[in-house]
Amino acid sequence: MTATPLEEVDVVDVVVVGGGIVGLSIGWRAAAAGRSVVVCDPAPGGGASRAAAGMLAPVSEARAAEGPLARLGLASLRRWPGFADELVADAGLAGTEDLGLRREGTLQVAFDDDDRRALEELAGVHRELGLDSELLGARRCRELVPLLSPMVRAGLLVPSDWQVDPRRVLRALIGALGARGGGLRAQGVRAVRATAGGELWGVELDDATCLEAAAVVLAPGVGVDRIGGVVADLRLPVRPVKGEILRLRAAPGDEVLPMTVRASVKGQPVYLVPRLDGEVVVGATMQEAGADTAVRAGGVLELLRAAIELVPGLGELALEETLAAARPTTPDNGPLLGPTSLVGLHVAAGHYRGGVLLAPVSADAVLAGLGAGEMPVEASPFDAGRYS
Ligand code: GLY
Repeated sequence: MTATPLEEVDVVDVVVVGGGIVGLSIGWRAAAAGRSVVVCDPAPGGGASRAAAGMLAPVSEARAAEGPLARLGLASLRRWPGFADELVADAGLAGTEDLGLRREGTLQVAFDDDDRRALEELAGVHRELGLDSELLGARRCRELVPLLSPMVRAGLLVPSDWQVDPRRVLRALIGALGARGGGLRAQGVRAVRATAGGELWGVELDDATCLEAAAVVLAPGVGVDRIGGVVADLRLPVRPVKGEILRLRAAPGDEVLPMTVRASVKGQPVYLVPRLDGEVVVGATMQEAGADTAVRAGGVLELLRAAIELVPGLGELALEETLAAARPTTPDNGPLLGPTSLVGLHVAAGHYRGGVLLAPVSADAVLAGLGAGEMPVEASPFDAGRYS
């Protein structure tokens, strides 16, 4: 330990490293379970969580080789309604619409025969995984989403894929954490420290103050490799995958899209996520770009071209925001969840494209490791030590 005057050391039950949707969810649930908690993040509520579209889409995102991840996503989706109700209550909100929770489903559409075959294959993957989806003809697609391009040939409706507005959820989590007595420090964590005997001691913050803690939870998004001390001894292979994402805005009262729409337009995957307040999120590019989070002109062009080809009326909306963020990604695309080999040190990292969806089940997995509740069975393939 570096020498720190004793009066500067706060002692808490749990320090959560990272104030994105996963870290804040864990902090809030731990505080609600009676633990004294501090969440540390230089920019709480920022990072990939603030960029995210907020799709709760384990079925639309399911891939054949990723059955365990789809099952983890479904387990989290099942938790979302209860999680949202409790969050609304603790944050003092009126209802789940204040979190932007919408349950209209997702329509994935096809432009040509190749796309249609891809949708049929996806429907087959869904059947194998026991997931619910329905192939539709072009006319039914346009009945559901009247502004779709006339070039759309077919669709796959996934009724159980929902959405929330991550920015509203983040604000609510910060409020709920405070309401449950949890603390938030706008500081990064530069090291997790152990005693000379090798037991977890606590964390050292960027401003050189320290927090002594019985448990530390690493939920830093892409920053895990910047944390020193005992973290450097763990193998937590999390790399950034950049995503550019846009926010458009319709005039108040104009409902451009009644549900989330996805497609691959001339090879560019795109999703359109409509909010009740007129925002339409257009996402997202995928790029292995290291630490770079600059928005490329070409990235904006690719997304707008695909979005407007899919729903031509989107060209009339205001372009309100362009943003890029780094998705924290592991070699198998699944998160790292639960305790590590150092007693008291826990992980909830590497959530890739699914941080918003997976926040409730990740919180339950970490809380189980903290002795509050049961480990979700669906979390067992995502053990934090599987790369050690
Ligand atoms: N969750 C979708 C994305 O990462 O783009």
